[in-house]
Amino acid sequence: MSQPFRSADIRQAFIDFFISKQHTQVSSSSLIPHNDPTLLFTNAGMNQFKETFLGMEPRDYTRAVTSQKCVRAGGKHNDLDNVGYTARHHTFFEMLGNFSFGDYFKQAGIEYIWEFLTSDKWLAIDKDRLYVTIYETDDEAFEIWNKNIGIPSERIIRIGDNKGAPYASDNFWTMGDTGPCGPCTEVFYDHGADIEGGLPGTPEEDGDRYIEIWNCVFMQFNRQKDGTLLPLPAPSVDTGMGLERISAIMQGVHGNYEIDLFVHLMDAAADILEINNEQQSSLKVIADHIRAVAFLIADGVTPSNEGRGYVLRRVIRRAVRHGNKLGADSEFFYKMVAPLVAEMGSAYPELQDKQSVIESAIQKEEAQFAKTLAQGLRLLASELEGLQDGDTLSGEAAFKLYDTYGFPLDLTADITRERGIAIDEAEFDEHMQAQRERARDAGKFDVDYSSVIQVETPTTFIGYEQLEEDGVTIDALYQDGNPADSLTEGMEGVVVLDRTPFYAEGGGQVGELGEIRTASGVFEVQDTKKIWSGDYPLWCRHHGRYQH
Ligand code: GLY
Repeated sequence: MSQPFRSADIRQAFIDFFISKQHTQVSSSSLIPHNDPTLLFTNAGMNQFKETFLGMEPRDYTRAVTSQKCVRAGGKHNDLDNVGYTARHHTFFEMLGNFSFGDYFKQAGIEYIWEFLTSDKWLAIDKDRLYVTIYETDDEAFEIWNKNIGIPSERIIRIGDNKGAPYASDNFWTMGDTGPCGPCTEVFYDHGADIEGGLPGTPEEDGDRYIEIWNCVFMQFNRQKDGTLLPLPAPSVDTGMGLERISAIMQGVHGNYEIDLFVHLMDAAADILEINNEQQSSLKVIADHIRAVAFLIADGVTPSNEGRGYVLRRVIRRAVRHGNKLGADSEFFYKMVAPLVAEMGSAYPELQDKQSVIESAIQKEEAQFAKTLAQGLRLLASELEGLQDGDTLSGEAAFKLYDTYGFPLDLTADITRERGIAIDEAEFDEHMQAQRERARDAGKFDVDYSSVIQVETPTTFIGYEQLEEDGVTIDALYQDGNPADSLTEGMEGVVVLDRTPFYAEGGGQVGELGEIRTASGVFEVQDTKKIWSGDYPLWCRHHGRYQH
């Protein structure tokens, strides 16, 4: 083929190659795994085939090829904290994969890899730059690499259980704690002697010189909760090659952030922020994070305070903070959606289809966080005053940032790390625990009002402009989860107003406290919460006690 240098061309070449080997092209599955409570996000190409490997979901093909959207943030494979600081970590990436469901096994699995990587018709990578690893006891894989392919034995590295437990190894791949798994063989690329790092299995293996580019798993087992491995109905193959890494090699660059796709996204971010692209870490973070964020929203995740929604919120807030660091003084992150669509929209039409939904969800989250970001940063700066490299920020301060200013712990850690300062996470956890207990004690506020409140017009929030307001109307009153006509002295209840300056709980912030004064008395607001309809907050409910 002609030189496939663009990422988009490499993606297509991979698919074409495996189609020429009788594979069926299957679309990427959603980032939200269907029917799989063991998984936070889709983190590998094989996820959508899990049941097929287990023999429980037959398909009308036995060979498949995909380019799969993956997110590794939160969950078993979590790369969030590293993004921006290393050459290759991403929250979102594309995994190219070929799969055999009881069809070919080790022999063809290895031959296809070698042909695609090295044949002149395909990627034509210099063989002398390639090394392979195998699972320590996998003599069959050794023979295939050595005898059939002709790799000298000194370039085939055996890796055993190097992660502290049986079958816990760089060369034994598991999707999660349970599910299909098996020994694997990996291909490494030597980026050159001018880059530091050692071969896999050496103490220097974490350096940047030898980079894993393709992992071929020989799916043989179904791992049970207790760690036992039961055989799969048929030996199968599951491979994964990160598009970003292979693109770096084909484009003659070292880091993933230097490939076409990221150069374009970083240039776009620099334009939006009106700065020069000097490969700043923060630009890398923004270029990486917009991919995870946009694809997650396209697949139906919305920012929230728990589960997937909280991971999404953390990624957005981390991006917003890095934009702030580069001088952004207003919402900017949502503007990255258009350049992303230009870059990836033809391979993933859902981005195009949902562009405006994605933009407005991001903008809304940015606007909400903007209100507390500057204050939180000021508080953090004062807490950090006097601390030096090697010191620790108190868990109490980190908790206050979380609780009052909506700073996820990893966001605070991202900032303190820049100064070599750790966080007392144990103390943070204690505060978190205490807060949970308080919330439990306040369980009386936990009545589900979403179906009870029947006010025609949603509450207007006026708290951005003012902290007090005269002449508001009480639209509804509730007591113990039921509508009430009035509250008497000392009674606890819930008040819904036509408009309110009280900020409701959300984004890691507690609801605002204060007073609602009437002609006859005072309603002391002890908490403010929102009632949602789908993704939109409709009514604000003020919880508290009425006194004359
Ligand atoms: N399932 C193969 C990989 O993620 O590397």
